[in-house]
Amino acid sequence: MVDRVPVWMMRQAGRYMPEYQALRRTASFWDVCSRPGLAARATLDAARFLDTDAAIIFSDITLPAWAMGQKLDFSPGPVLSPAVRTLADVAQLNEVESAKQMHFVMDAIRMTRRELAPEVSLIGFVGAPLTLAAYMIEGTPSRNWVELKRLAYAEPEVLAALIERTTQVVADHAAAQIQAGCDAVQLFDSVAGELAAEELAEFAFASAAKVVKAVAPLGAPIIYFARNIGAHLEQAAKVGADVLGLDWTVSIAQARRRLGDELGLMGNLDPAVLLTNAEEIDRRVRAILDEAQGHKSFIFNLGHGVLPATPPLHARQVVTSVRQWCEQKKP
Ligand code: CP3
Repeated sequence: MVDRVPVWMMRQAGRYMPEYQALRRTASFWDVCSRPGLAARATLDAARFLDTDAAIIFSDITLPAWAMGQKLDFSPGPVLSPAVRTLADVAQLNEVESAKQMHFVMDAIRMTRRELAPEVSLIGFVGAPLTLAAYMIEGTPSRNWVELKRLAYAEPEVLAALIERTTQVVADHAAAQIQAGCDAVQLFDSVAGELAAEELAEFAFASAAKVVKAVAPLGAPIIYFARNIGAHLEQAAKVGADVLGLDWTVSIAQARRRLGDELGLMGNLDPAVLLTNAEEIDRRVRAILDEAQGHKSFIFNLGHGVLPATPPLHARQVVTSVRQWCEQKKP
């Protein structure tokens, strides 16, 4: 751990980086995910270039759906088939033991941990049960998530049955990553904010809380990142994760007022700010740090993943600005 505000970025290993683009010219996305040497290289390249306090293992939230029996292609977003829409479809899904079916993820984690500087944390991740279920139901990233919502509102028993399964698989996958050497795990609930309040509580927060409860005994910190749930922060905090990841629709100051000083918070620079210029990035990074000041339990991050159009040096500027702010605040 570091005695300054830690900083890392969601999607820090991705298409905005020339090293990653070069890797992808020789290997498919699936290859990078499934060949531990390539996944470790993508993970390490990003953490070293950015000089972040954490690396996030290169993988994808949809891999557990593949382990459950769906076919998985990337073009460039994930395509899962056949889509899961009925109780019979749910019943057909495989049981998953991540350490076996997804051993390549654990191998990549062990390989990365061996090469990563000891003071840099390695973060594992999973899709939260609702978000993984949403991709399994839709089959592709979706604009309006209408198939998910149709099930939530018209056939909630089907969605509940699928989420019961994704909850088990996600908990097992998170635990396996910690056992392989991750220092923390993040649950990505990217789709949560699409649901109405009642369904959000029932299908997103309740299942994420089960994952937290199952994984917490392993002792690694858990980050819960849900998008567009600013109206429901208090309920999101009750999921029980050590850290709540915030998008840019809620200010850190407001989140502190509503949640108190104990809970860890992470966020929340709009990734689009990285498309501007060094001065603007610096100004906005400092504004967030000023808001978070006085709270030791804060991790600097973006409010969502680095955008592919980001100039690499602008991503690097975020880290520089965080470090400079911390230096200037030293007593
Ligand atoms: O650096 C890191 O953060 C680690 C790698 C990582 C990827 N996906 C690699 C990736 C992480 C943490 C993810 C999480 C993920 N994957 C989420 C949750 C975060 C979010 O964006 O909401 C979701 C929803 C997915 C599913 C997914 N995978 C989508 C929607 C897409 C296509 C759209 C996009 O933004 O790229 C992917 C493909 C993907 N996953 C790429 C990468 C680097 C691009 C694939 C390529 O190289 O062509």
